Amino acid sequence: MTLAAKDPLLAELLDLARRLARSAGDLQRERYETGLQIDTKSADIDLVTEVDQACEAAIVDGIQSARPGDAILAEEGHGGDRKDAAIRWIIDPLDGTVNFAHGFPRFCVSIGIEVAGRRSVGVVYDPLLDECFEAVLGEGAWLGARRLQVTKEEELGRALVATGFAYDVHDSENDNLASFRKVVKAARGIRRDGSAALDLCYVAAGRLDAYWELKLHPWDVAAGFLIVEEAGGRLADFTGGGPDRSGREVVATNGLLQSALLRKLEPGA
Ligand code: IPD
Ligand code: CA
Ligand code: CA
Repeated sequence: MTLAAKDPLLAELLDLARRLARSAGDLQRERYETGLQIDTKSADIDLVTEVDQACEAAIVDGIQSARPGDAILAEEGHGGDRKDAAIRWIIDPLDGTVNFAHGFPRFCVSIGIEVAGRRSVGVVYDPLLDECFEAVLGEGAWLGARRLQVTKEEELGRALVATGFAYDVHDSENDNLASFRKVVKAARGIRRDGSAALDLCYVAAGRLDAYWELKLHPWDVAAGFLIVEEAGGRLADFTGGGPDRSGREVVATNGLLQSALLRKLEPGA
């Protein structure tokens, strides 16, 4: 069995998101470790490549031809985020740009879709491993024929946990380092792999027990949030409330580890 949505609208959206994510991923695979034009954005360490732009343009074109009335929020600014549309696509065309630019094999395409304000479809495609994580509201989270389920780990001391650092880390005092230190001292292991969308999918798949990060954006989390929820995971902000769709504070766990992890996280500055 693989994921198939019963609702015809969600089935149509899933099919389109899957096709667009896979074709952007094909481009990333082709261009991986080839000469790239690389520019910077908010900081010297915040990169954007010609492949981010090309992937986003292709995804947005595909949505606009198939579904011209839908709203689109895309990281690099293609598309139009109409407030009145019932369906909203939230796109990170290449999550893990620094990895991609350095030839570090961990990046993906992330496409989330909200219907009437509810997270309804999520697709995250890792082109190098050819892994497509998918979820539809109420239909579970899937990796091919495998239905995903978070772990049952209850002890932070036996947990593998991931995090990340925002692009303002050189200058900001709200830099996640105090929390990082506390979790390093408490967990079995910690990872900083450089793709928030994949980190969320790995919590859903049971490859990680928990993940937290701050100062993310809606496109980093739109698909991954639904994939975590549909795999039985729990999402929160740093107060245990939320989750916040903006991605400002993200705590994603198997549920059992939420309080233990929250106790280690510094309140936002
Ligand atoms: C980044 C990655 C990274 C996270 C950053 C994100 P980008 O997205 O998800 O893991 O730590 O905060 O901005 O720039 O590669 O799309
Ligand atoms: Ca991103
Ligand atoms: Ca990106």
